[in-house]
Amino acid sequence: MNGKQIVVASTNQGKIREFREMLEPRGYEVLSLSDLPEHDEPEENGTTFAENAVIKAQSVTDRFGIEAIADDSGLQIDAFGGEPGVHSARWLGHETPYTYKNNVILERLKDREDRGCRYVCAIAWTRPAKDPIVIEDTVDCVIADEARGTNGFGYDPIVYYPPYGKTMAEMTPEEKHGISHRGKAVRRLEKMLDEEDQ
Ligand code: IMP
Repeated sequence: MNGKQIVVASTNQGKIREFREMLEPRGYEVLSLSDLPEHDEPEENGTTFAENAVIKAQSVTDRFGIEAIADDSGLQIDAFGGEPGVHSARWLGHETPYTYKNNVILERLKDREDRGCRYVCAIAWTRPAKDPIVIEDTVDCVIADEARGTNGFGYDPIVYYPPYGKTMAEMTPEEKHGISHRGKAVRRLEKMLDEEDQ
């Protein structure tokens, strides 16, 4: 137990809960942005997932002198030169339903062989007077021929994982967590936190 405070620099309740479940058993008191005084969230203007994750976490550490964790993730499609990439959340509009976004992708890739894609997740851990630590992980997939499955979120119904013969939206949460970009990055972060604690 180290009794340190850490801020999960996100307003996404799902992410805050997941990080809380990981950090609290390791002795951290977990805060979210809503526990802090008003803080202008920085613009995510990085060109990589790692840069954006660091921008989010470092702004909290710089302003409040406290440890922070932030993540940034997205889908890279080879045939689109890596887009939507860091623009995944806002691609074709932030409020546009994913059923629409996914249909656009399926339509644009119709009859195309080059269907490679990957999810990427970067997690940044920032501490006062220390260099940020960034962990990045990926899962290689292909864009399916049609949308399938109702689990998960976002692009999951069209992201097909060949080793399981399923889209991400056809997996149980445990199956997805076991192979996903975020699952892999989170497990590496857990290991790092445990080593740091010794
Ligand atoms: P973030 O919350 O800024 O990291 O944005 C991540 C965006 O990337 C999401 O809004 C989705 O569009 C996409 N994304 C990242 N991970 C996943 C996933 O596991 N499933 C589906 N979409 C994802």
